Amino acid sequence: MLKIQKGENMIFESHAHYDDKQFDSDREELLSSMKENGIGTIINVGSDLIASQKTIALTEQYEFIYGAIGIHPSDIADLNEEVYHWLQEKSKLPKVVAIGEIGLDYYWDKEEEIKRNQRYWFCRQLELAREVGLPVIIHSRDAAEDTLKLMQGIHAEQIPGVIHCFSYSLEMAKEYLKMGYYIGIGGVITFKNAKKLKEVVAKIPLERILLETDCPYLSPEPERGKRNSSKNLLYIAQEIADIKKISCEEVIQVTRKNAEKLFSKTVFGKLVD
Ligand code: NI
Repeated sequence: MLKIQKGENMIFESHAHYDDKQFDSDREELLSSMKENGIGTIINVGSDLIASQKTIALTEQYEFIYGAIGIHPSDIADLNEEVYHWLQEKSKLPKVVAIGEIGLDYYWDKEEEIKRNQRYWFCRQLELAREVGLPVIIHSRDAAEDTLKLMQGIHAEQIPGVIHCFSYSLEMAKEYLKMGYYIGIGGVITFKNAKKLKEVVAKIPLERILLETDCPYLSPEPERGKRNSSKNLLYIAQEIADIKKISCEEVIQVTRKNAEKLFSKTVFGKLVD
């Protein structure tokens, strides 16, 4: 039986989408039960314009929810100069702690012109993060080489961030570690066929790992296939602990410190209250 953490050792959820309509029926009830389930802090991540607006509303409603705003590569049709300016303005809000999720996704979009457009807005949003002094949450799927090339090209090592839902090789992980990036680990780590990802987790330092669900998607075993929520982070923490042969408490404690360091406004926010 997995033990629920209390106090300082509560879980830091670094990537959730509670704005998603899959939570419409029970959002309030679910979010109100987070503390008693050991979840201390949540970053809700915007993926398009409406999701970013809803993210800001959630940060206003719940003291333990912080927000990332940005436009996902599959939703860049939402982006224009006016929306970019809106992101720029809203990034100054005290509880907006990151720009994301931004990046490249060639899984659905294979046309060269769309890919070029994705790269353009990825660059612009990275520059936005640099300008406003916020970390980035990066989404990269089927675009390993282009993501790394683009980030190296604009000196992304000067912009702190996390590669969320990491799905590439150990060699690729090492390139991101070199740039100072964190690696986001979620439900996929519990899947039996996730050999490559288990190897990545075994070899990279715990000090560079963040816990995430990407809920409502990607539920870990034994909840695979069902709607995901931050309550399932215990399964992910336990899997990382087993791989690294350390305690689940240590995983929770260190990944919390990592997240607080990266999203430093989550700490400063508390000092201000
Ligand atoms: Ni996501």
